[in-house]
Amino acid sequence: MKEIKLTTTIKVYANTSELSPADQVLLQRAHDAVHDSYSPYSNFKVGAAVRLANGEILGGSNQENASYPLCLCAERTALSAAASIFPKEGITAIAVTAKSPTKPITFPISPCGACRQVICETENKHKQDIRIILQGETGEIYEFMTAKDLMPLSFDSEFL
Ligand code: THU
Repeated sequence: MKEIKLTTTIKVYANTSELSPADQVLLQRAHDAVHDSYSPYSNFKVGAAVRLANGEILGGSNQENASYPLCLCAERTALSAAASIFPKEGITAIAVTAKSPTKPITFPISPCGACRQVICETENKHKQDIRIILQGETGEIYEFMTAKDLMPLSFDSEFL
C-alpha cells in the first residue's frame, strides 16, 4: 500500500485593490452578473465572468427552473455563452461571486463539482489553462492558476 497526498496552491488577495486592473474588471463583471440571476427557488444569486483569449469578457448567472435539476450554474452559463459566441477562443480566466438571501457572503464562493469538471474540459479543449478567481460579496479573493488545482483527478477524454 502506498499513499498519494495531493496538494494545491491558492493565491489569496486581501481585497480587489491587490488584483491586476484586468482582474479587477473581470471580477466586477462577475459581481454585475449577479443581478441577472434567475433564482426564485434558492434565492441564491451567482455571477460569473469569463475572459477570452481575444480579450472579450462574457458574463453568466445561475438560471433556475421549477424542475429543479434543470437549474444552470452561473459558471456553466458563462462558459456556454463563450463556446457559442466565440467557439474558437480559449478562455484565460473565470471569476465567480455570489449573494445569499440569508447572510452576507464574506468568503470566496466555491464552484460546484459539475462546474469544475466543465472548466477542466474547457481547458483541455483549448489547451489553455484557466485562472479561477473567487470572491464572496466582499472579502478575500482566491486565485487558482488552473482548474486542475480545484479538481485533481478529473475525468477526461484520455480515459475513453
Ligand atoms: N450555483 C451556481 O450557480 N454555481 C455553483 O458553482 C454552485 C451553485 C447555483 C445553482 C443554484 O441556482 C444555486 O446556486 C443554489 O445551489
